[in-house]
Amino acid sequence: MTTDLAPFLNLDDFERHALEVLPAMPRDYYRSGAWAETTLRENRAAWERLRIWYRVMRDVSARTTAATVLGGPAAMPLCVAPTALQKMAHPDGELATARASARAGVPMIVSSLSTTTIEDIRAAATAVDPAARTWMQMYIGRDRGMVRALAQRAQAAGCDALVLTVDTPVWGIRERDIRNHFRVPDGLRIVHLERPGGPTGHTGSGIQEALSWTIDASLTWKDFEWLRDSTPLPVILKGVCRPEDAKRGVELGAKGILVSNHGGRQLDGSPATVEVLPHCVEAVGGRVPVLVDGGVRRGTDILRALALGAQAVCIGRPVLWGLATAGEQGIERVLGILKQELDVTLALAGCAGVADATADLLLP
Ligand SMILES: Cc1cc2nc3c(=O)[nH]c(=O)nc-3n(C[C@H](O)[C@H](O)[C@H](O)COP(=O)(O)O)c2cc1C
Repeated sequence: MTTDLAPFLNLDDFERHALEVLPAMPRDYYRSGAWAETTLRENRAAWERLRIWYRVMRDVSARTTAATVLGGPAAMPLCVAPTALQKMAHPDGELATARASARAGVPMIVSSLSTTTIEDIRAAATAVDPAARTWMQMYIGRDRGMVRALAQRAQAAGCDALVLTVDTPVWGIRERDIRNHFRVPDGLRIVHLERPGGPTGHTGSGIQEALSWTIDASLTWKDFEWLRDSTPLPVILKGVCRPEDAKRGVELGAKGILVSNHGGRQLDGSPATVEVLPHCVEAVGGRVPVLVDGGVRRGTDILRALALGAQAVCIGRPVLWGLATAGEQGIERVLGILKQELDVTLALAGCAGVADATADLLLP
């Protein structure tokens, strides 16, 4: 049965529907933030507080949402953020995300906790568009040999960047998962990170325990340097919150900074990403692109991010809601809605393209 997508006008419509149709365990895994979910809520609310100080009489009859993202073309300044375990939302899982992102002309960041191999994901993306861009998200886990092998595998599969997530020395505590005794459902595999000697994720006691071995609390900048030197691919740092960390990362060779708090899933009480974005942009000083994610739900949020100096945004949960609602078509519609909203936002703000979305567009 196909879902009629005509009534889905915005990303919240997808969220509402997905929360109704998903079983409790994946639903809560996808939607949850850490502890009191304050940061989760603030990520969204803080965008909405920024007022767009629009210009008039600018001839916006010929417009484009096209953008350069990390040195390559994109149909809009947006990437699909890495989210784990996509086959819990739909049997097509990451393959649907790959196809929909490629069709929409935006890069996809594949989670290292995916339920489909990077080779199959790349094949799905390039079958739609041979120029599709795919980046591999990585954790540096305790087994460095596995990390290096995954980096090599991503490169061989045609990924053009690695995205190293640095906000997970330990997993944030998501109480909904504990209440649900979260476990990776039978029949699904975290294909890139199978624990030598046994299946992952069947302890029945929450994601924290099931996946604890895939991360490493001892990480320091030295480990970033190690990964940087282990791969010819550019490495982007994901999960940066403070300007001095952004600066340090760039000095040590990061090719991009993704300002993120993991969608409010790690340290509850940390600031909304939009609040710290301008500080990080200033610290980076134009040396590498700055991206941001967390609570981006409207085309107006994309314009706000650009005005604050981001090159692009990423979206996490909305893709899962699209996937759960209607697979590939659902994600395509989510991305289509955002593109259309950005186009109308640009026009109404007096911008012919993303380059016109400058800092003065936000009311001080
Ligand atoms: C269900 C779920 C799974 C996630 N899995 C990963 C992951 O495997 N690796 C990672 O770096 N970030 C992961 N994230 C964080 C996202 O990449 C992104 O930072 C966040 O979702 C952005 O916020 P948004 O969901 O409000 O758009 C996950 C987020 C969610 C909601």
